[in-house]
Amino acid sequence: MKDTSHIITIFSIVIAFLIVGFIVDRFLQPESFDKYGHYRWNAVNEILSQKVVNQNIKTCAKCHDNIYQLHQKDAHYNVPCVDCHGAANLHVAFHSGGKDSAKIGKLKAVLKKEYTLEGCLFCHRKLKAKPSDFAHKSKTK
Ligand code: HEC
Ligand code: HEC
Ligand code: HEC
Repeated sequence: MKDTSHIITIFSIVIAFLIVGFIVDRFLQPESFDKYGHYRWNAVNEILSQKVVNQNIKTCAKCHDNIYQLHQKDAHYNVPCVDCHGAANLHVAFHSGGKDSAKIGKLKAVLKKEYTLEGCLFCHRKLKAKPSDFAHKSKTK
């Protein structure tokens, strides 16, 4: 008869690893994992409860209607205000005059409006991946 003991040893080791793996997996899974799928359900609620940082263009329009109207007719109508001016959550909170207003202070509420060429090139730099009809430029001067 052939010697089969080495096969039994190998399979025992593999099965032992699988069993230990399953047990460790049970213990290490965070709470709410696998509740609705292969992810942590609590993460969804955590993300939902975060404060909005990037403000919606409609929010800007409430106070800057004239600029909003201009923007809608501009080549940049598809580019949200916050892409050029920054997230603006403090700006909006400050100018809305809520209870946080004094805490934020005028200085932190200021948005940038001076754009350098480098800032424009952030989107308009010449790259091979861009469609050929997109306005792009390769030099910084
Ligand atoms: C493509 C980039 C870009 C986008 C998009 C953009 N802006 Fe601007 N914005 C600028 C630049 C550059 C200036 C400075 C213009 C200047 O000083 O002549 C400016 C100036 C301003 C100013 C100051 C005007 C003043 O008289 O001092 C306000 C307010 C403003 N933008 C609001 C908005 C709002 C609201 C939106 C969205 C509806 C928007 N911007 C979208 C680039 C942008
Ligand atoms: C609740 C009203 C309000 C909202 C909403 C608002 N702004 Fe303003 N914004 C102001 C006021 C008031 C000023 C003028 C501040 C000054 O001159 O001291 C201003 C000034 C600005 C300036 C000039 C630079 C500065 O900070 O003074 C920019 C740029 C600007 N706003 C962009 C935006 C963008 C982009 C949004 C949307 C994300 C937005 N604003 C939403 C009230 C508002
Ligand atoms: C957040 C990205 C972004 C920034 C920053 C940005 N742009 Fe644009 N720009 C765009 C997009 C998107 C278009 C629309 C392109 C299209 O429709 O093909 C555009 C269009 C333009 C056009 C019109 C080109 C045409 O074919 O009519 C000009 C000019 C332009 N941008 C200049 C500027 C200048 C100057 C600045 C800096 C103040 C700037 N852009 C900053 C995204 C940006």
